[in-house]
Amino acid sequence: MTSFFDKFVKINAQEFTSKWMAPSNIAFVKYWGKRENQIPANSSLSMTLSECRTITQTHFIPSDHLKVELFLDGKENPAFSKKIFNYVEKLIPLLPVLSKVHLKIETSNTFPHGTGIASSASGMAAIALTMTDFLYHCSGLSKTLDFYKEASFLARLGSGSACRSLFGGFTTWGEYSSNEFATPLEVHESFKNLNDSILVVSSEEKKVSSTSGHGLMNDHFYAERRFTQANFNLNRCVSALQSGDMDLLGSILESEALSLHAMMLTSPSPYILLLPNTLKAIEILLQFRRDTKIPVYFTLDAGPNLHLIYPESDKKNVLTFINSELSHLSEMIIHDRLGDGPVLC
Ligand code: PMV
Repeated sequence: MTSFFDKFVKINAQEFTSKWMAPSNIAFVKYWGKRENQIPANSSLSMTLSECRTITQTHFIPSDHLKVELFLDGKENPAFSKKIFNYVEKLIPLLPVLSKVHLKIETSNTFPHGTGIASSASGMAAIALTMTDFLYHCSGLSKTLDFYKEASFLARLGSGSACRSLFGGFTTWGEYSSNEFATPLEVHESFKNLNDSILVVSSEEKKVSSTSGHGLMNDHFYAERRFTQANFNLNRCVSALQSGDMDLLGSILESEALSLHAMMLTSPSPYILLLPNTLKAIEILLQFRRDTKIPVYFTLDAGPNLHLIYPESDKKNVLTFINSELSHLSEMIIHDRLGDGPVLC
């Protein structure tokens, strides 16, 4: 894969501005645990979202050394500037041109930061897209379909799950694609308008970062079984998505969500990201499904917020249910759905 980048090794920096919108994604099969260089310990699969997204403009200015200034919602953010500086610095051996550029990044999200709605996924995907754009501009080469694979590769090095935000629909990372970048997955017609209503139970910054969480898988007693389970679930999830089997898909979603949190609960330094209202909402949802047989299922990211996944045909009933029985348990609800992927602005 690094050969993808050989064509950019000798390029010189030119002044350039690039602006991209990149969506967040919600994993159906969770990536949890990694090896060197953000290589995942297991395969994962996600649904690209539509409304939860990051818009990023990067102004690249030739310079005698690497410099990064990042503005979040118009305000300079030294912590993020440092984080992105470290990320770009690590890319220099692959892309020497990055040692001779000043990046002025202006970014904003359409959803609250740090809530377990993956702002790192959309954020890193958007930055990677502007960087890939810059590389093509400086090289004078025309973009091919590899553009998105290359952006996915670069996004992965910033935040693993970000590599899945480079494509619309559903994507896999690991099996069915590569450990180095994600690949879109064709699915059954009935899943092309799936909804995701996100119950933001708490928008507080999470107490344990994903990086620490991945780290705790290194000497987790159940790690190997978890990686086997995830790879097994990936195959079942692909077959559910391709055959249109919502009940199978739903059972995998819920098993994966609870397995992710079970890893946190049983890690060498255990921690709990679920809140009482998360569990209450799950109980109410399960009862609703038993009573109505409406196929609405939950999943969770690394946080307390509940993602309710359901088909478009049940939207009216599910929205009525959410408004009457769940809204009091959450700070806000974001109604999202399957998205088409990044857009050049
Ligand atoms: O991309 P990271 O390193 O922030 O890891 C995120 C992992 C989960 O969001 C918990 C699961 C996933 O596959 O997105």
